[in-house]
Amino acid sequence: MSIRQKAGPFSDQRVESHTLSLEHANVTPLNPPTPSPPPSPWLLRIPEIFADAVPEIIRRLDSPCCTKLGHEYYLIRPAAPAALRQAAVARLVRWNLPVHHSWPCCPRSMPGFVEKAAQTLARKFSARHPQSLLIGLLDPGSRDTYYKKLASNLRGRTLQLFPPPALPPPESEDQDPEAATLFCLLGKEGLFCGLHSPRLANGFYAGGTRFISRDSATTISRAGAKIAEALHYLRLHRPPPPAHAHWLELGASPGGMTAELLARGYRVTAVDRAPLHPRLAGSPALHFVCGDAASFHPPPDIRYDAILSDMNGDARDSIRSVLRLTKKLQPGGLVVFTLKAGGVGTPDEIDHLCGSVIALAAAGGLRLLAQTHLTYNRHEFTLFFELGATAHSNPRSDTSSSSQPR
Ligand SMILES: C[S@@+](CC[C@H](N)C(=O)[O-])C[C@H]1O[C@@H](n2cnc3c(N)ncnc32)[C@H](O)[C@@H]1O
Repeated sequence: MSIRQKAGPFSDQRVESHTLSLEHANVTPLNPPTPSPPPSPWLLRIPEIFADAVPEIIRRLDSPCCTKLGHEYYLIRPAAPAALRQAAVARLVRWNLPVHHSWPCCPRSMPGFVEKAAQTLARKFSARHPQSLLIGLLDPGSRDTYYKKLASNLRGRTLQLFPPPALPPPESEDQDPEAATLFCLLGKEGLFCGLHSPRLANGFYAGGTRFISRDSATTISRAGAKIAEALHYLRLHRPPPPAHAHWLELGASPGGMTAELLARGYRVTAVDRAPLHPRLAGSPALHFVCGDAASFHPPPDIRYDAILSDMNGDARDSIRSVLRLTKKLQPGGLVVFTLKAGGVGTPDEIDHLCGSVIALAAAGGLRLLAQTHLTYNRHEFTLFFELGATAHSNPRSDTSSSSQPR
């Protein structure tokens, strides 16, 4: 593969039909006009927690059909793919891919599957110079290791068939977020592939972000995996704060996120009404303030590099607490905000809540970088803001309407 060569602009390969109107040309058509081709297929990953909303999502994306694949994947034909970035329901879609090649089959009973699939991928995509080739599983949680091995064999064989690379393929999170990657999803329903940039797909990995276990021996709470995944995801939009950066963390107890930030070499001022886990006591880079975030007053000379909020309660109250403290944030500073949507049911209600939080943030000088639903987010979303900085080029951070991109 011509790795590191930035792929040229690519479209969703919809075929526009340009039919000449013969009606006004005063001639009799020899052939009836060709009907427009059906919309192109897209593969969406919709977290299980939003399964009830799938019919509504498909309806809002104006797709005439929907096929469920594996776990959490849906093959649809959206009439206007731009809606995947603009529609209110788009925030319920974790990952998306235009399907430029599919082979619906049962790979297990298909003789020579790897060789045939690899030859086809090389023939169809090598001239497009994707920066990397990543193959994920349609059912990643399956105990059956067959498809994992098949994916690894298929990747290896396909890379052999691509032109010799100038450099080895970048590690997933070292990819250029804006360059095209060949993403493939594989499972018992077949192979589904497309060229898409990690940023537009909404993840560096085929199907989403890196899986992070929340069950290690040192885990304090599942929130630790949440901030770890959030910091991986953030690279799609901007680099994470450098080591030794100072975080203000609101809603820190029992301390899963605090422990993760400290393990990354950050300094943390943690605020919560409840105490932190005793294991964190004595951490030299940690300052804990036991109390309400709404009445926390940082020392006058302090400037934080980033604010993290994981407070439960009404998300509008939480963002107000964050905004009061952004005067202590460095220009261009980062805000990572868990928007709790518990008890908020329909896509419209979720959109209304998210829209009002984003509008409050914008009025307080915070620009939305991205919003997503992470692996360990339940009824909540993770929002990323930047304080009054020059805009990064991110098509999904347009905050101009209440229907926010993810
Ligand atoms: C989901 S838990 C946080 C989990 C934590 N981030 C972790 O990593 O373990 C929510 C926390 O927000 C705290 N909280 C909610 N509102 C608060 C407020 N106004 N001031 C301080 N803490 C608050 C609660 O006490 C609770 O500990």
